[in-house]
Amino acid sequence: MSGNNTPTYIGVDIGGTGMKGGIVAISASGQQAGELSGERFRIPTPQPATPQAVARTVAEIIDELDSREMAPARDRPVGICLPSVIHHGLALSANNIDPSWIETNAHELFSDHLHRDVRVINDADAAGLAEARFGAARRVSGSVLVVTLGTGIGSAMIHNGVLVPNFELGSLEFRGNMAERDASASARERAELSFQEYAEQRLQPYFSYLERLFSPELFVIGGGISQRAEEFLPYVKLRARTIPAQMVNNAGIIGAALFASIADTSM
Ligand code: BGC
Repeated sequence: MSGNNTPTYIGVDIGGTGMKGGIVAISASGQQAGELSGERFRIPTPQPATPQAVARTVAEIIDELDSREMAPARDRPVGICLPSVIHHGLALSANNIDPSWIETNAHELFSDHLHRDVRVINDADAAGLAEARFGAARRVSGSVLVVTLGTGIGSAMIHNGVLVPNFELGSLEFRGNMAERDASASARERAELSFQEYAEQRLQPYFSYLERLFSPELFVIGGGISQRAEEFLPYVKLRARTIPAQMVNNAGIIGAALFASIADTSM
């Protein structure tokens, strides 16, 4: 429990280069603005990032967090997010992670390694939940598309505050390619585009297409690059309001912890 009796949950975010965990206070009212209680703990992602190697590293992260004073009770579920479609606990895609994840039962894998209850969710879905509950999409009704621009493109569709899981708009075929190959932050680096060129040549066509398909009220742009949103968002013209995410670095951790809290029936 945190100091004011708000329940805490552990969230872990598995990325291509780093794996990060933290303890998050989640209040039912959303008053506690989804902040980490204490520092986050990060370990470089093992290479190759096979399911077994990643699960061992998640166990190390949980051990460290468990040793802290504000650690949640051990019978409380742990939330874990990763860059894969997660369907009934099964990992079904591996665009930017080790191919051995495909068809891995991530729920079983982590439960076995951690000896505790786990909830597994796609990383962009976790970020979307965090933004909808505590961040840029808080109290927005209608459809919100949270789009994370990083090595790949992640996306979360939230309708009236409820997540529609596994939206995967980075995997849309667009201009003859998978959209994330053309419009992710790493595509900008590969093509050595300035932020303005990236916005005009890659983001504008992609987001116009998303807008045509889904007509959201709001786009929330996440991923590390969103910290520099003022350098590219002004060049993207859409009908929908388009704003940077609020929980850039910790969105995955917070969203995973939030997901564990939503699914927790021990409360
Ligand atoms: C994956 C998504 C993930 C996104 C962001 C994409 O390559 O297909 O599942 O959410 O990267 O990490």
